[in-house]
Amino acid sequence: MTVITAKDADLAGEQTMFSSNASWPRPLRPIDQTGHFARKITIDAHWVRALSDMEVFKSAVSYFTGYPPHSLMGVDNRALLYCLVRALKPANVLEIGTYYAGTTEVLARALWENGSGTIHTVDPFGAQRVPEKMASWPQPLQAIATYYSDNSMEFLSQLRSQGAPLDFVLVDGEHDYEFARFDMEMSARLMRPGGLIVMDNVEQSGPFSAVAQFLAEHPDWRELGDGVAAFKPSRPYGDEWQRSSVPGTSVILIQSPSYLVVDSGKFRSWGHQQISATRITGFEVELAPQTGSGTLHVQCILRSFGAEQALQQMMSVVAERVELAGNPHTVRHKLATPLVALSEPGQPIDFCTAEFELFWQPDAGSGSLRLAGPPRSAPPHATSLAELPPLSAPAEWHLISGLEVIPVGEREIVAGFPVLQLAAVPPDTCHGLALHFRDLAPGAVYRIQVWVKSAAGINIQLQVRDAVDPEEGRPANEGEVRFDLAAGLVLMANGNLLAHGMETAAGAWRKLWVDVKTADGQIFAYFGLLEATSNLHVFTAIDQQVELGGFEIVGPS
Ligand SMILES: C[S@@+](CC[C@H](N)C(=O)[O-])C[C@H]1O[C@@H](n2cnc3c(N)ncnc32)[C@H](O)[C@@H]1O
Repeated sequence: MTVITAKDADLAGEQTMFSSNASWPRPLRPIDQTGHFARKITIDAHWVRALSDMEVFKSAVSYFTGYPPHSLMGVDNRALLYCLVRALKPANVLEIGTYYAGTTEVLARALWENGSGTIHTVDPFGAQRVPEKMASWPQPLQAIATYYSDNSMEFLSQLRSQGAPLDFVLVDGEHDYEFARFDMEMSARLMRPGGLIVMDNVEQSGPFSAVAQFLAEHPDWRELGDGVAAFKPSRPYGDEWQRSSVPGTSVILIQSPSYLVVDSGKFRSWGHQQISATRITGFEVELAPQTGSGTLHVQCILRSFGAEQALQQMMSVVAERVELAGNPHTVRHKLATPLVALSEPGQPIDFCTAEFELFWQPDAGSGSLRLAGPPRSAPPHATSLAELPPLSAPAEWHLISGLEVIPVGEREIVAGFPVLQLAAVPPDTCHGLALHFRDLAPGAVYRIQVWVKSAAGINIQLQVRDAVDPEEGRPANEGEVRFDLAAGLVLMANGNLLAHGMETAAGAWRKLWVDVKTADGQIFAYFGLLEATSNLHVFTAIDQQVELGGFEIVGPS
């Protein structure tokens, strides 16, 4: 059995007991009196090595000697944390393992001096002790820090689902290898380029092995020091202090690359993120400057969720050749068949998520693939007339504005007319499309029928006319009907249309119809989306959508 003496503990950079510091908490005052951290600092191994000789580090050591009294970390560790946060100026700091919020206070004081940034600190066993401690801090420090009584897995899962990025993480929670490894991996995945992870207690095998394994598997990450490189398997417990990045401390510092990496021959995913649309039409991947070539394989996954319906998952796999000559480059891919969420009849979709899994297969001589950001769904795109699918019905497309039109691939509702999803997209504030029926019998009456399926929140406008008389400047026959699909109501009707109506059909489809006379053998039929509450075709919210089953013409009568 090894007896730990006070001297050993100091060497280990850890305090064996709380020092009895009479004055806690201290009022706020800058620790860096010389403005050292006012300038921009490049954090690299050279800077970290030189730090302990800098006056500002010595000031921090003096300030944090015995303070705060309830931190488990040694004074050099605290001074190092303070200097790293001052130099990096992180926006989002995470501390895993709060204990009595001693190191939280060190980090919060550094952020306060930076004038920006917040700290989240998590500890599942701290609910009885942490809030009380933090409530004694000076108010500006309290405003910077938030404590969560979650374990790191719960908290990091929430951050992941919110897509929240991190800039600085102190891993000081459960020290078993498996826990430390999870904390490392998830922190790394959420880390912005150039961010830092500080792993404490590397004198213990769990945290040390977690960092060593992580670096072996993620070669683009760097240790700012040589704690891992200097490890000798022949003397695994030889001089344990060679394990740390900074002599006199118990931490290993690692820095994320200035880009995201897809390692050669490995899958990489950033998980699924909620999207405002119910479809994926394509994706974009922004690549960082690099040279090399290879094939980027991408699996796009659309998942739709609703309280009353089974999880739907649709997948599409594509491969893109990539040739890189040192410039920034964006891979843009439009799916030949877009993924469109299908709901069970009558059951609304609450939300959809998109996930893009990448696999990089480099050509001989090329290395890993560097990204400037995670892949994202292609932004909505206003479909042009030429991009609309051909019609075999006795009609042709006439106009389109402010709509993204995606063939759904469902069985046809109207023969010769593909089922289309129509989504409102900017910059137009009118969202609709029109058909032109020609070669009809002049003077006859026809019924124009439209099949539509809609989520709540959208009404429909049907405008029908014959051709404009060049002398009058107006059509002889014209009119408009507005339908509230959810309520099954006709909101208004005008013009000299002969009749109109709305019928319910199987599969939550509705059939809207109007009867109109054509003076000259032509009919133009415009189908527009209306915002339900205002009954206007001006959408403030984008991405409202309907399914269009098709147009039919019946007659003459
Ligand atoms: C070494 S102490 C942290 C010391 C603190 N950073 C300081 O120096 O002031 C480790 C803390 O991690 C907490 N912990 C244990 N398992 C955890 C987990 N899964 N997630 C987050 N914290 C955890 C423990 O309750 C304990 O308070």
